[in-house]
Amino acid sequence: MKVLNFGSLNIDFVYSVDHFVRSGETISSGNMEIFPGGKGLNQSVALAKSGVETWHAGAVGEDGEFLLELMRGAGVRVDLVSRLPGRTGHAIIQREPSGQNCILLFSGTNRQNTKARVDEVLDCFEKDDFLVLQNEINELPYIMEKAHGKGMRIVLNPSPMDEKIFRCPLEYVDYFLLNEVEAGDLGGRSGSDQELLSAVAQKFPRSRIVLTLGDKGSIYKDENQIIRQPACPVKVADTTAAGDTFTGFFIGGIMRGETPSEAMKNATKASAIAVSRPGAAVSIPSRNELI
Ligand code: RIB
Repeated sequence: MKVLNFGSLNIDFVYSVDHFVRSGETISSGNMEIFPGGKGLNQSVALAKSGVETWHAGAVGEDGEFLLELMRGAGVRVDLVSRLPGRTGHAIIQREPSGQNCILLFSGTNRQNTKARVDEVLDCFEKDDFLVLQNEINELPYIMEKAHGKGMRIVLNPSPMDEKIFRCPLEYVDYFLLNEVEAGDLGGRSGSDQELLSAVAQKFPRSRIVLTLGDKGSIYKDENQIIRQPACPVKVADTTAAGDTFTGFFIGGIMRGETPSEAMKNATKASAIAVSRPGAAVSIPSRNELI
């Protein structure tokens, strides 16, 4: 069994700032770093580091070769990543001293996938292989239809959440990984963690749902059980890719036969380590570091 992550690859430009820029304001940053990122790339690195055979599909432009090198180094197969004319997607990230961030995305080649390319990629996978998706690429509905037709298991982390997600056949999703905002939008209501989870579960009764709550931990729900996992206390350097690390280690754990409870514990440890370090993909730990 292998996992295909059809997802974004970004160049992250990270600016240290005293506070996020406000409307009409100009501020300066004394420190800028460039990191490999993108929710797709980060999740592929986390999947591979959790110990599963990971294939990434998507597209980079002429400036994106170093992203592929980073992925190869982490053990991700990048044979299915297209090289297209133009610029790779990028993210302009402001990082406050607390480690919190805000992000402006330029989609670049991430939104140049074609149906013909999706068909070619999915031909390499079969029933029971996993498919992991986020919301930074185009053609998500088509990818989900085709993958469902093949009997693949679909994992959706609908970040960054927007109205395009509701054009996807969400009833095919086997695992949702959601933060509180995403759960509220999908479930169509606000409320307590429990109310958010129940609302999503009512709409998607066959899906397994993971709700991540930052320093309040996370909750897993399926038909038979609810598991609450506290967060690990940690000194935060940079929260970028915390959720991506959690997604990769949780799904990697499930694929390797861990129980949901074990997978939640390991995903929590991995994302705690990731937030204690600067950067996105480069902050993701190896499985040995979790012990
Ligand atoms: O989830 C973090 C990622 O979101 C960053 O690496 C950035 O590229 C944006 O896609």
